[in-house]
Amino acid sequence: MKRTKISEIFKHPERIELGSQISVKGWVRTKRGNNTISFIALNDGSIVHNIQIVAENQKFDEKLIKNITTGASLHVIGRLVESQGKGQAFEIQADSIEVYGTANPETYPLQKKGHSMEFLREIAHLRPRTNYFGCILRLRHAMAYAIHKYFNDNGFYYMHTPLITGSDAEGAGAMFAVTTLDLQNVPKTPEGKVNYEEDFFGKPTFLTVSGQLEGELGALALGAIYTFGPTFRAENSNTPRHLAEFWMIEPEVAFYDIHDNMDLAEDFVKYLINYALENNEDDLRFLNDTFDKELLDRLHFVVKNDFVRITYTEAIGILLKAEKKFEFPVKWGVDLQAEHERYLVEIHFKKPVILTDYPKDIKAFYMKQNEDGKTVRAMDVLFPKIGEIIGGSQREESYDLLLQRIKELEISEETLWWYLETRKYGTVPHAGFGLGFERLLLFITGMTNIRDVIPFPRTPQNAEF
Ligand code: 4AD
Ligand code: MG
Repeated sequence: MKRTKISEIFKHPERIELGSQISVKGWVRTKRGNNTISFIALNDGSIVHNIQIVAENQKFDEKLIKNITTGASLHVIGRLVESQGKGQAFEIQADSIEVYGTANPETYPLQKKGHSMEFLREIAHLRPRTNYFGCILRLRHAMAYAIHKYFNDNGFYYMHTPLITGSDAEGAGAMFAVTTLDLQNVPKTPEGKVNYEEDFFGKPTFLTVSGQLEGELGALALGAIYTFGPTFRAENSNTPRHLAEFWMIEPEVAFYDIHDNMDLAEDFVKYLINYALENNEDDLRFLNDTFDKELLDRLHFVVKNDFVRITYTEAIGILLKAEKKFEFPVKWGVDLQAEHERYLVEIHFKKPVILTDYPKDIKAFYMKQNEDGKTVRAMDVLFPKIGEIIGGSQREESYDLLLQRIKELEISEETLWWYLETRKYGTVPHAGFGLGFERLLLFITGMTNIRDVIPFPRTPQNAEF
């Protein structure tokens, strides 16, 4: 008999004739009952809801019934009927049950409900079996799908940029080295430096912090591209919003200025939120009811309202007038901290905010320089509860200005010669941004720690699973 997914029973009950036999497979969430009857809540991961299995104990081997404990995996064949009990519309009257795998109640870590998120992080290999992580992983999938759909429907091409690179795209220097050199016995040059000629690529290489530079090459040929892949940052920031390995979506568009870029960013994230609201109602409802009672309101609020657009300089003015005492003092020129970003979004405007035209000294070398000589055409999108969710800019398209900036910042020209050539041959105005996938998921799921929206988080001192 073909297996029926539990999501089918909930989403399309009309497709199953009541009283007919179906086959379901999944993991036991709970079992209750007495000597004569057992009620088993079975979940197969296709949907947050469990199907109730009703088993008359006398019909089955005593040992089999005993083996049905939380975490065990089952194959059940039975008749789908309307439920007598409260809390569910349908249940399955079991005719046959097979236990695929038992789960010893003495040791199975997910025995009880209501584990803390911290505890679940320690059992990342099993946490996908909880309701929380089921919802989060289904939403993560839905968002990845919606991202490809959005760009495909809007004429963007998906470009695969390399993960191993010789250049530091953000100029921040927080990169993981990629090497096959023997670290116990590193080959040296006569001057005593590491001899990278003997390394795999014959030069120093790293895991990429961003696909942008190569993405720009694509945009300057195909018009509009996006990347969507893992990126790596070796910064030692142990915060609820930083991962050492995270996924980033980076659209890049030729002939776009910063205003087009802001329009795209706003339209894109609103589309994604709408997609989740329309396609993942059960998961969002569950997270809303059990984790964050304001989640759905917040999602609806953001799609309904225009984002505020102001400059960094205006934002500093607002922060200087704020009555709140900040841990990090505010003055023109400082990089904004999460507390500043959240003040603007949550207290002052009570809406998402796009900040533009940041001081050039706190932004990357590739951003278009403004005529004031002090600021660049940067744009950061700030969200409630999260702070920065998107960072982007219009790019410097002038060869001379770009080269001058690279020199000022003492960035190695030799590693970026190919990037500079795009400004030499057929340069055009262009712009793009990067959306942090896990930051988006924090917003979509209402989770408060970024370690809880990626299956296997990589953070300082932590790469167990
Ligand atoms: O602002 P960032 O550093 O921008 C770039 O990398 C550009 N190259 C993007 C572009 O213009 N194409 O990073 C972009 C976004 C941030 O806004 C944030 O959402 C996310 O990536 N991000 C992180 N997410 C999790 N952990 C980290 N350590 C992150 N660093 C950045
Ligand atoms: Mg940024």
